[in-house]
Amino acid sequence: MDGRGMKRAVAKACANIALLKYWGKNDAELNLPAVPSLSMTIREMSTQTEVFFSEEFPTDELHLNGKNTMGIALERISRHLDRITQRSSGQWRARVISSNDFPTAGGLASSASGFAALTLAAAHAFGLNLSERALSILARQGSGSAARSIYGGLAMLGVGTPGQVDSAYASPLSMPWTDVCLVVGLLGSQEKSCSSTQGMNQTTRTSPFFESFVSQSFKDMHEALQAISTQDLEWLGRITERSALRMHATMWAAEPSVVYFQPATLAALHVVQGLRSKGIPAWFTCDAGPHPKVLTTLSNSGVVKQALMDVPGIQQILIGTPGEGARLVASGNHA
Ligand code: DP6
Repeated sequence: MDGRGMKRAVAKACANIALLKYWGKNDAELNLPAVPSLSMTIREMSTQTEVFFSEEFPTDELHLNGKNTMGIALERISRHLDRITQRSSGQWRARVISSNDFPTAGGLASSASGFAALTLAAAHAFGLNLSERALSILARQGSGSAARSIYGGLAMLGVGTPGQVDSAYASPLSMPWTDVCLVVGLLGSQEKSCSSTQGMNQTTRTSPFFESFVSQSFKDMHEALQAISTQDLEWLGRITERSALRMHATMWAAEPSVVYFQPATLAALHVVQGLRSKGIPAWFTCDAGPHPKVLTTLSNSGVVKQALMDVPGIQQILIGTPGEGARLVASGNHA
């Protein structure tokens, strides 16, 4: 390979942790969410992705955290790159080199930072000059939560209208707190048992609670926007914890059930509720994996960290603070 006709760009994006959960689609093909969601982008959890396109590569390749990766992960990335390369003629194939600066443990949101960084790098390498909204729409088609990682701080993702690919995208919200953080308890790096995509499709199809989760999510978003505009972290915290518990309750009721909690996850929930009864502002959340996450303030993060470290099964703690949106790190095309 002499590099002729090669297109290249490098981008970085932070993961995000949802305060109001996206769980369920109203169009699986176009990956359109059925519920509105809200997240905080996390500075301490980022993915850097380098994309090379060439018409001379025989196939797409993915190098993830130093390992040549095939199977479902590569297929998902190839499908995403096709959304970009189909905008021009030619048989473009890509080499994608991506690494996370945080443990790639199941349910730790690496698809959000991964697809946001990939979307920005690939669009730029391919010479597409897309707005943040267009990038968010594109990233969402790779993974719903990635739509929110295009933006820094707080971002909300709306619901989509079935059949309309452009109908759901994230929007940034101004962050009223300088000292907010999420304390993440890591339970070890076992792969998750059921992907979010599969788990949410199973929940949408079979959980008798799904409709209530959807209608409650709209009410939660309405309240969360008020909590943010009145700078009421306590209110946002309560909405955060109930959104996570309702999401998990809804998927527990699916058939077959989707259960991501481990004993340490439940123990952490009790610890957080115990801290709150002592007046510590701390609210539990958890995604499609067993790792507990706690919304709190930086000044209380030490107490929360100590309490989580005492939970058997929690191996490592990460303190996440608001991060930037997806950004280009380098680009350079070879004529
Ligand atoms: C529990 O964005 O991973 O983290 O769109 O199918 O790729 P796909 O799902 P994904 O789901 C994230 C689910 C969640 C909640 C959230 O981030 O809002």
